[in-house]
Parts: sequence; structure tokens; C-alpha cells
Amino acid sequence: MMALRLVVAVLLLITCVPWCVNSQLPHRPVVGMTMVKNSTATALGAYCLDGSLPGYHFSKGFGSGARNWLLQFEGGGWCNDVESCMERAKTRRGSTHYMTKVEAFSGILSNNESLNPDFYNWNRVKLRYCDGASFAGDSKFDNGTSVLYFRGQKIWQAMILDLLPKGLAHAEKALLSGCSAGGLAVFLHCDNLSRFLPRNTTVKCLSDAGFFLDIKDVAMHDTIRSLYHGVVTLQGVEQNLDKNCTSSLVDPKLCFFPQHVLSYIKTPIFILNTAYDMWQFHNILVPSSADQRKEWKYCKYNVSTCTDSQIQKLQDFRQEMLEASYSFYTHSTSGGMFINSCFAHCQSEQQETWFAADSPRLHKKTIAEAVGDWYFERNETKLIDCPYPCDSSCHNIIPA
Ligand SMILES: *[C@@H]1O[C@H](CO)[C@@H](O)[C@H](O)[C@H]1NC(C)=O
Ligand SMILES: *[C@@H]1O[C@H](CO)[C@@H](O)[C@H](O)[C@H]1NC(C)=O
Ligand SMILES: *[C@@H]1O[C@H](CO)[C@@H](O)[C@H](O)[C@H]1NC(C)=O
Ligand SMILES: *[C@@H]1O[C@H](CO)[C@@H](O)[C@H](O)[C@H]1NC(C)=O
Ligand SMILES: *[C@@H]1O[C@H](CO)[C@@H](O)[C@H](O)[C@H]1NC(C)=O
Ligand SMILES: *[C@@H]1O[C@H](CO)[C@@H](O)[C@H](O)[C@H]1NC(C)=O
Ligand SMILES: *[C@@H]1O[C@H](CO)[C@@H](O)[C@H](O)[C@H]1NC(C)=O
Ligand SMILES: *[C@@H]1O[C@H](CO)[C@@H](O)[C@H](O)[C@H]1NC(C)=O
Repeated sequence: MMALRLVVAVLLLITCVPWCVNSQLPHRPVVGMTMVKNSTATALGAYCLDGSLPGYHFSKGFGSGARNWLLQFEGGGWCNDVESCMERAKTRRGSTHYMTKVEAFSGILSNNESLNPDFYNWNRVKLRYCDGASFAGDSKFDNGTSVLYFRGQKIWQAMILDLLPKGLAHAEKALLSGCSAGGLAVFLHCDNLSRFLPRNTTVKCLSDAGFFLDIKDVAMHDTIRSLYHGVVTLQGVEQNLDKNCTSSLVDPKLCFFPQHVLSYIKTPIFILNTAYDMWQFHNILVPSSADQRKEWKYCKYNVSTCTDSQIQKLQDFRQEMLEASYSFYTHSTSGGMFINSCFAHCQSEQQETWFAADSPRLHKKTIAEAVGDWYFERNETKLIDCPYPCDSSCHNIIPA
């Protein structure tokens, strides 16, 4: 009796999830997780950090979008040593066991035309992140008692192989997107996607908040360089970085930084980033290790409390971002940009920042409109904001 009740409850749960949750959240449809086929994963060794199977969420395209594909890398930082990866393996960032099995699709993933005018009816796939190296590693840690799989590159490959027979193999148009560590994955895999697709498929890429700068922190330390060096070394990333980039730089590991690999990327790419990216502000420019005297304690959480010299440091940061992308801005004919002067991080996945009455704008265009204009070549779209404080359309995540 108990067993039967359980079965009925489970069945109800399974059959009801997409609709029941949907009815509570009318504009945020939820999509269940699909695990990568065990045979595909096993053949490639494509496992999450803890050895679990990787997974993605797939919402089928319809109407005029039925043959178009949006693939979106999930973000969520990195792990750069055995300890941090061991910790990560016990969380949703390193194991599908701990992940939510349904995800709300909003912003660029929304299936509602009035919320996502250009991509709503495409096949939309959220690729869950469980490797800790922006889907780019390929190695393994095994000391006899503990095992960690660093198989991001294989996970990427396995997910594509899983999706090809679901229609990706016949894609007309494709857009590879992602935010944060997922936005970095876009730079690293942008040219790779077209290799799996027919020659006549239009492939483009959108990196959101993935333009992590190769700069020193305010204490003149190479904080981000050493973090990335750890990620690349531990997880065997270097072999998967762009060969033309790695053969050109004295330190090939630096090709993990978007600004160094950018000029080698042949696929049209759109860089969406805030000029005062919050993650970069807190972790690259002013990590706590660079602020021993806690001079940035208030400024980091409320821009109105920043001193003139701190504001200047933030303006210098913006300048570094513009310089790192200057050649792309002036020379790339297929590229797009939207660099707004906001204190935010990730703007394509949330409805409020992607496309809404009061969402961020540059030259009157929302991010959704700018990305759509660029993708469909309705207009050249390289938009750069004036320096802070001049943009009243920002959705800042700290008072500014
Ligand atoms: C689409 O979004 C609009 C605006 O939020 C809303 O009014 C409409 O009900 C949504 N349509 C569906 C099918 O959910
Ligand atoms: C995948 O298949 C292998 C055998 O090929 C099996 O040992 C393993 O338990 C399976 N993993 C999952 C998660 O089903
Ligand atoms: C293996 O590595 C783990 C994690 O660093 C550590 O806790 C464990 O003691 C190591 N085992 C051996 C045999 O070195
Ligand atoms: C690409 O070429 C194939 C084979 O000729 C054709 O079936 C397909 O419709 C073409 N796709 C596009 C987007 O033109
Ligand atoms: C693209 O990825 C596949 C699978 O990881 C790999 O076999 C291939 O060499 C990659 N190509 C490039 C140019 O990175
Ligand atoms: C390197 O650049 C050459 C010339 O642009 C190009 O033909 C080749 O495909 C590139 N190799 C890779 C791995 O991107
Ligand atoms: C931010 O700092 C300003 C200036 O000190 C202050 O007036 C304001 O209340 C602070 N805002 C918040 C939300 O703490
Ligand atoms: C194209 O973009 C420019 C600059 O943002 C703008 O002035 C112009 O009105 C746009 N044209 C169209 C057709 O959207």
C-alpha cells in the first residue's frame, strides 16, 4: 500500500511538474533536465567532477524557429586546486546529483515572443556546468583514495553529440551563448561549434559577462592570472585552447583570457559586458587579498561611498576593458558589442535586463534588440556607454 501510494505520488510528480509549476509561474516556464546518454558519456569519459553524468535542459523549437538552436553555457566560477575542486564536487557546481532538475527559462531562454522577440521559438538548451574549468579541461585527479574528473571539454563534446540527433545536426542557425564562466566558455568554444554542424549553418556566439580582464589588482598582484593559471594547469585546459593563440603567446596559458584569444576567433561574436562588471570589481580588481586595510569595504557595496581615487580606479578598469577590445571594436566587421556602464554581472538571462520596459539601453536599444539586430544583420551593433555616472537605465546590483 505504501509502495503503491509512493508510485502514484511519483507518477503525479513526474507528469505534473512541467505544467503544475508552470501554472504558478505563468511567464517562467520550467524545463526538465536531460542526462547525457551514459553510452556517449562513458565513451568519452565525459563526467562531472564527482563522476556523475552531465545534464542539460532542452526546450524544443517551434514555428519558424524549429530549425534554429540556442545553446547556453551555465556559469558559476571555477576551481583551481584539488581542495576547491573537492569542495565543488559536493555541490551543484560539480555534480548533477545536487542540481535542481527543473530550470526556469527566462530572458534569452524565454519561449514568449513578447519577452524574447528573436529567439523565443528556437530550440533552447541550457548546458549545466559541472566541471569547474569553463567546459575546457581534460584530465583527472586520482591519488588512490580520491578521484576528480576534469572533463569539461569532453562534457561539451558529449552534449553536442547528444543533441545532434535531436535536430542540431540539421540546424539552420545557431547561437552559442553563456554568462560569466559560461561567457568565458563561449570565447573558448565559439569556433569549435561549427565543426559539428553543416557548412551552411549560420553560427554566431554571444558572451555575456565573460570578458574577464587580464589585469593586476589594486595591490598590483596578478590575482586573476594566478587563479586562471591554477585552473588551466590542474584541469588540463591548455591542450584545448586555440592553437593559433597558444603558438603565438610566450605563455600559452594566457589564451584562457578572452582578450588574448579574441583576435583568433573566426566565428562572429558579440561581447556583452558591463564596464564595471561586479564580479570583476570584487574578484579581479579588488579581491579581499588586495584590500588588507579594508579601504574598499564600503565602496565595494555602495558606489556613493567610494572616494575619488577609488572611482578613478573603476574608471581605469573601464578603460582597460575598452582597450582590450579596441581592436575588435575597430576591425571586426562581424562582431557586436554592448558595453554599458553599470554595476552588474550577467544581463541576458534575466528578463528585467534582457528585454523589459525599463531594462538597460544603449542608443535606445535594449540588450535583446541589440543582440537581435546584430545576429540577423539588421544593423551594425557596437555600442559603448559613456563613463559612470551617466546611464540611468542600469539595473545595478549595488547602490550606484
Ligand atoms: C507573454 O508575456 C506577456 C508579457 O509578460 C504576458 O502578458 C503573456 O501572458 C505571456 N504569454 C504567455 C503565453 O505566457
Ligand atoms: C553507465 O554505464 C556503466 C556501464 O557501462 C555503469 O557501470 C554505470 O553505473 C552507468 N552509470 C550511470 C550513471 O548510469
Ligand atoms: C588524496 O587527496 C585527498 C584530497 O586532497 C586527500 O584528502 C587524501 O588524503 C589524499 N590521499 C592520499 C592517499 O594521499
Ligand atoms: C544546407 O545544405 C543541405 C544539403 O544541401 C540542405 O538540405 C539544407 O537545407 C541546407 N541548410 C540551409 C540552412 O541552407
Ligand atoms: C573541437 O572539439 C572536438 C571535441 O572536443 C575536438 O575533437 C576538436 O579537435 C575541436 N576542434 C578545435 C578546433 O578545437
Ligand atoms: C589558424 O589560422 C589559420 C589561418 O587563419 C586557419 O586556417 C586555421 O584554421 C587556424 N587554426 C585553428 C586551430 O584555429
Ligand atoms: C550608499 O551610500 C550613501 C552615501 O553614504 C548613503 O546616503 C546611502 O544611504 C547608501 N545606500 C545604501 C543602500 O546603503
Ligand atoms: C542602426 O543603428 C544606428 C546607430 O545605433 C541608428 O542610428 C540607426 O537608426 C539604426 N538603424 C536601424 C534601421 O535600426
